[in-house]
Amino acid sequence: MFRIAPSILSANFAKLGEEITNVIASGADWIHFDVMDNHYVPNLTIGPMVCEAIRPLTQAPIDVHLMVKPVDRIVPDFAKAGANVITFHPEASDHVDRTLGLIREHGCQAGLVFNPATPLSYLDYVLDKVDIVLLMSVNPGFGGQKFIPAALDKLREARARLDAYEARSGRHILLEIDGGVKVDNIAGIAAAGADTFVAGSAVFGAARETDAHRYDSVIAEL
Ligand code: DX5
Ligand code: ZN
Repeated sequence: MFRIAPSILSANFAKLGEEITNVIASGADWIHFDVMDNHYVPNLTIGPMVCEAIRPLTQAPIDVHLMVKPVDRIVPDFAKAGANVITFHPEASDHVDRTLGLIREHGCQAGLVFNPATPLSYLDYVLDKVDIVLLMSVNPGFGGQKFIPAALDKLREARARLDAYEARSGRHILLEIDGGVKVDNIAGIAAAGADTFVAGSAVFGAARETDAHRYDSVIAEL
């Protein structure tokens, strides 16, 4: 089963509620929520208050991608604000195992995010606490960047690791991809093993061009 998770980073923030209602009505599965702190990444976005504000608008899972340092102190706030999935970058946490446990203790699914140059070895001893693996196919910080092709080999490597883990544990871990996902490359990305696709500019940019605030056609194509 595949999931499409539009990144609201590329939405019109002046009409955020409407944008979210529209993407969900158009067939999106998750809402991808990019949290940037102008410290771990060079951009500043939205926090738990915005998560809380959008929570009543949809039953769809809110997938919070933390690009912040430190990580732990913001986790309870996002859990309270209604996040379903919380992912973080292992380099940004002093104690990766503890942070994964903290997210799960707060009732959310927990995930690790890998920058293009971050090795998958961060998964080695913690897979039992991981619900989702998110591979970045751009460097984090901005929407609208170009997909880095090396991410395809990394996806295949992650797929093999997660399949082997599932075979021995019976636990299924999701494999998400984030950055530069478009209608014309998503099939190749799926073939490399991703099952959950973040798409920001591909979804919200497409609708702007046609000035239609409905996203049915692009989500259907994705
Ligand atoms: C980048 C963010 C992405 C971004 C993706 O740091 O994590 O979620 O919004 O945007 P596109 O799909 O435009 O590359
Ligand atoms: Zn993201």
